[in-house]
Amino acid sequence: MDWGMKNRLSKIIKPGNSRCVMLAVDHGYFLGPTERLENPRETIGPLLNYADSLMLTRGVLRTSVIPESNTPIVLRVSGGSSIIGEDLSKETIVTSIEEAIKLNASCLALSIFVGSKYEFQTLKNLSKLVNEGEKYGIPVLAVTAVGKEMARDSRYLGLACRIAAELGAHVVKTYHCPDFDNVVEGCPVPVIIAGGKKLAERDALQLTFDALKDGASGVDMGRNIWQSDNPVAMIKAVRAIVHENFTVKEAFDQYSGTSVMTEAIRKKSRNKTVSI
Ligand code: R5P
Repeated sequence: MDWGMKNRLSKIIKPGNSRCVMLAVDHGYFLGPTERLENPRETIGPLLNYADSLMLTRGVLRTSVIPESNTPIVLRVSGGSSIIGEDLSKETIVTSIEEAIKLNASCLALSIFVGSKYEFQTLKNLSKLVNEGEKYGIPVLAVTAVGKEMARDSRYLGLACRIAAELGAHVVKTYHCPDFDNVVEGCPVPVIIAGGKKLAERDALQLTFDALKDGASGVDMGRNIWQSDNPVAMIKAVRAIVHENFTVKEAFDQYSGTSVMTEAIRKKSRNKTVSI
């Protein structure tokens, strides 16, 4: 592997422990203004320094992230469909490699839809992106998107992850599931998990813990962080599990403690405002 490729990958998967906390804020590319991500700048700002990397589109990067930021960028370059359109799997590559280089992207991200109507097209997209990325030393994160009609089981996810790796993806993002260790075992590149729909904070921390225990290299988590009532405390708790080997209880206690403190500070400042 070339130096540039290794260097960029080391910004995504930390070399010390081979783990990662990627913050996903790319949901708008097909969902529009997702709840609590309506104003991306406001959502991203307080979390930026706690993420190992940030996954987003070029539009949100340009408009909503300060260019002085040191947080590595995972640029979502696939799109072309919407939640109300004909078929979510009908994606193409929407951002050029030159644009990714201009934006100083450390990694390129693209969805594949194995088993869907547009399987061939999305796998061709991945292959093309890997070819381009290899030319310039930029790794590719393949996102195994799951259609409504597909089961999120280890057989399906294992198939999708392995195909992504065979086509040259450097990292694969998928979902946690029963027998997840089989998915990881069958995939020769690092596997990270999406958080999925918002869960209770403790359950999201349990999901993180279980995925790591089963061999995941980390998380690419969105809604379970920024839809939490205390997003900063939540990303810190996720980090504690990923990077400091906290148990779920320890991480949740830390989350709850920080939440209580934040609430106390809010109350104090509200009281101050009233007394002035
Ligand atoms: C989904 O299309 C996006 O790629 C998200 O980045 C991914 O699902 C992770 O976000 P969440 O943790 O909210 O599922």
